[in-house]
Amino acid sequence: MNFTFYGHACFSVETKGKTILFDPFISPNPKAAAIDIKQLKADFILLSHGHEDHIADAEVIAKNTNATIVSNYEIVTWYQKKGLEKLHPMNLGGSWKFDFGTVKYTTALHSSMLPDGSYGGNPGGFLVKNDEISFYYTGDTALTMDMKLIGETEKLDFAVLPIGDNFTMGINDAIIAADFMKCNKIIGIHYDTFGYIEINHQEAIDKFKAKGKELILLKIGGSVNIKM
Ligand code: NI
Ligand code: MN
Repeated sequence: MNFTFYGHACFSVETKGKTILFDPFISPNPKAAAIDIKQLKADFILLSHGHEDHIADAEVIAKNTNATIVSNYEIVTWYQKKGLEKLHPMNLGGSWKFDFGTVKYTTALHSSMLPDGSYGGNPGGFLVKNDEISFYYTGDTALTMDMKLIGETEKLDFAVLPIGDNFTMGINDAIIAADFMKCNKIIGIHYDTFGYIEINHQEAIDKFKAKGKELILLKIGGSVNIKM
């Protein structure tokens, strides 16, 4: 299974012949200037919440690729009003079986307002699983006790966690989150994009390592093949 990082909280996962793109924020991100969104492939675009730094390029990429946008009911309705038609609404705790696997929209402790000030529903994360992979992207969130439920009910191959602090969990809480989820392979996101969320990479990697965990920090545009 191939995982590609596009900067900030944007990444794609290729599984079962489908490309699932998460939280596209590329064209406004100077650090991702080398990525041409016209070249991006997507069959599905999953949006964790309504903040600009998670949805900025979703409409353009959806139109380019004919991908289906999956998000909470309020965000999907917002895109429906913009004239998009390939949409799938969810809400917290709900699962749906797509052709690439099952997606559960999970709780996140954060906020969610759309760029024009519209209500963005409750923020969430995505638990994705099929017969080759199981992973959890928390979205922007604080550390929550709900993450223990994930650890009790799922067997994750990896988790995608925000580690930049200030707006989300920082490194120390992300390590606790990984413990709660019983997951030792973490891909870090939501760091370095803005001054508020700059981190020391080596220190972060070392802190995870000291707890027996692997923190993967990819270069923008970089990929990792996660073996099952
Ligand atoms: Ni946010
Ligand atoms: Mn964010």
